[in-house]
Amino acid sequence: MDEAGELAEGLRQAVAGMAAAAPFLADWPEGPARRAQVPGLLPVCRWLPDLAGGPLVAALCRAAPRLEWRQTYGAGDFGAAFLDRYGWTELVGLRGPIPSDRVAAGVLMLGPGVTYPAHSHQAAELYLPLAGTALWQKGDAPFAPVAPGTPIPHDPWVPHAMQTGAEPLLALYLWRGGDLAAKSRIH
Ligand SMILES: [Fe+2]
Repeated sequence: MDEAGELAEGLRQAVAGMAAAAPFLADWPEGPARRAQVPGLLPVCRWLPDLAGGPLVAALCRAAPRLEWRQTYGAGDFGAAFLDRYGWTELVGLRGPIPSDRVAAGVLMLGPGVTYPAHSHQAAELYLPLAGTALWQKGDAPFAPVAPGTPIPHDPWVPHAMQTGAEPLLALYLWRGGDLAAKSRIH
């Protein structure tokens, strides 16, 4: 299996068996199709070596220079300081190396001391923090710490926000439904 396939399989296995993940995994792509990527790191990747995680985190860190790291927002959304500490890379979906128009999967990276303000999207989402305990907020609930390994589901259009402290955050995400390449609505 190629590197993208192995990473995607690692993501799949990380959530396999979680009831909340079943609808996402039902649409998981099979087959050898691959989409060309333009590898490139982002400033947030400088915290990859600080991530404390298991074999999947280590594999993602090793592969990071060969992945295409992306940002959905511009400086006009949350400011330049946010863009310095935010990025994601997709393994499965409309843009990543493994094509799917049914499900998207990848990892979000946040540096320390950053707030990802409240946003929402049509897609249903499941996050699984892989490294770093950040504060997570859903709807009007207060921010609360979520440790790695705890799944965080977001129904369509439910606002959510994250805030990191001293640790960077690496979190697996799954999307399904709606436009899988849509920019989130900012609240
Ligand atoms: Fe989200």
